[in-house]
Order: sequence, then structure tokens, then C-alpha cells
Amino acid sequence: MTPATQLPIETEDLTYLIGGEAILDGLDLRVRRGEIFAVMGRSGTGKTTLLRLIMGLVPPSSGRIRVNSVDITDLQERDLDELRKDMGMVFQSAALFDSMTVGENVAFALVEHRRLAASELATRVGECLHMVDMAGTEDLMPAQLSGGMRKRVGVARALALEPHIMLYDEPTAGLDPISAAASDELIRRLRDNVGVTSVIVSHDVQSLRRVSDRAALLHRGRFLAVGPIEELEAGSDPAIVQFLSGVHAGPLTEGDPHNS
Ligand SMILES: Nc1ncnc2c1ncn2[C@@H]1O[C@H](COP(=O)(O)OP(=O)(O)O)[C@@H](O)[C@H]1O
Ligand SMILES: [Mg+2]
Repeated sequence: MTPATQLPIETEDLTYLIGGEAILDGLDLRVRRGEIFAVMGRSGTGKTTLLRLIMGLVPPSSGRIRVNSVDITDLQERDLDELRKDMGMVFQSAALFDSMTVGENVAFALVEHRRLAASELATRVGECLHMVDMAGTEDLMPAQLSGGMRKRVGVARALALEPHIMLYDEPTAGLDPISAAASDELIRRLRDNVGVTSVIVSHDVQSLRRVSDRAALLHRGRFLAVGPIEELEAGSDPAIVQFLSGVHAGPLTEGDPHNS
């Protein structure tokens, strides 16, 4: 059903204003099929906003967004809904429903969008949990899980409808280094085994070095550079060097009144 487009996600001159201020200011993003693309940036640079735009949850102020080669900027809500099923979003907070079991959380979109017999539903939920190394946890409650496990369930839930695109909002935030490495490994495995195209927004440079094929640095609404992180590191752009090395003084914090 999904066209085998080479550019599952594309934005063209994408601009998003909040209160007259351009949070995103003419972004051109091209994510290739099957790649893991990282959008890096400091807190408040508009990373989550970019994911919300790609999901069609908010309309852009101007510019174009194409998902699977379909321009979503003039889609009806019903067609947008259809397209959204091909995108699994993993929210920063994992955002599980605390009153539902793990299994019910993972089943949520399936119950909503697919007419499945109870046994088929259980099978699919089991498969999704298996993919994130959480097999057999269907009857647990979210409160019984560690932060890393909750994130995994969030990934399993996003996988339920077999999307070709996965969007991850700060997947390693709040995780200890071991859980963060496991999360990176999971994201790569999903790409390798299922072939999903992934966008990760994060400021966790260490993780992005391991997991991303290409990365872009978002600063003041624009991408300062796009490419494999090793290439960005080898370059001489002082802003990129500052971000990747995490030093306080430099172009990224210039003229920033609360630059801590
Ligand atoms: N609903 C909103 N209303 C007002 N300002 C917002 C809203 N959502 C985001 N912002 C502002 O937009 C900027 C980008 O936010 P966000 O996309 O969440 O950044 P990031 O995810 O990179 O930390 C921030 O300055 C934030 O305060
Ligand atoms: Mg954010």
C-alpha cells in the first residue's frame, strides 16, 4: 500500500511560527528510505515541534511536508489519519496509559483501527512485545516497569500497526547508560529487521553517534549541517564542533541570555 518512495519524509521551506517567532525557519529535510536520521539541537530549538508537524498534528505556517510522497499540508483529516497509521510515534515520556496493562497499551491502536479476533490481537501484541525484548509482560501494569521498560513498551505500541516510519522523541532521555545503549540497539535492530525509516530527535550526542546514519543540527530554526556525525565532527564549523563536544562557550550560546 505504501509506495516504495526513496524519500519517505521530505520538508520544503518548512516554517512554523509561534507568536510571530519562527521556531522553524525554512527547513529542508530529506530522510531517505531505511535510514536513521537524527535531528540534534539544544532544548527548545523545535525538535518536538518538527515531529508534530511531520505527524500532521499541527499545520505548518508555510512550506510543504511530504510523507510517503504525499503532501500532507492539504490533506483532509480522514486521509491524514490513514497516513498517520504508517508512522509510529514514540513520545518522550513514553506516555503509556497507566490504568491499562502493558498488553492493552500495545493493543490500543489495533483495537481502534483493525478488526481482529481476540486471538489475532493477542498474537500481534505478543509479536510487538517480542520485538522490543518485552515478551510475556502483557499483564503487567506500567507502574511496575522501569523507565527503560516503559520506553520499550512505548516502542512496541508504536509498532502495532506495522508502520514504515518511526519517529522517536528523545528516546534515551532519563535512561541510564546501559538502558540508553539498549535503546540504540533496538532502534537499529528495527531498521535492520523490519526496514523502517527512522527519525530521532535528541541532544544525546553519544547515543546519536552510535545509532544515526545521518544527522542535522537544528539551531535558530535552521539546519546548520547535515551528514554522518563523523563527517560533521571532522568539519570545521564552530557551531557543530561546540554542540558535538558540549562546550559552553561558542556560537550556539552567543547572545543567549540564559545560555546554561
Ligand atoms: N504550544 C506551544 N505554545 C507556545 N510555545 C510553544 C508551544 N510548543 C512549543 N513552544 C515553544 O516552541 C519552542 C520549541 O519547542 P519544542 O519543539 O518543544 O523544542 P524541543 O523539543 O527542541 O525542546 C520552545 O521555545 C517552546 O517554548
Ligand atoms: Mg522536545
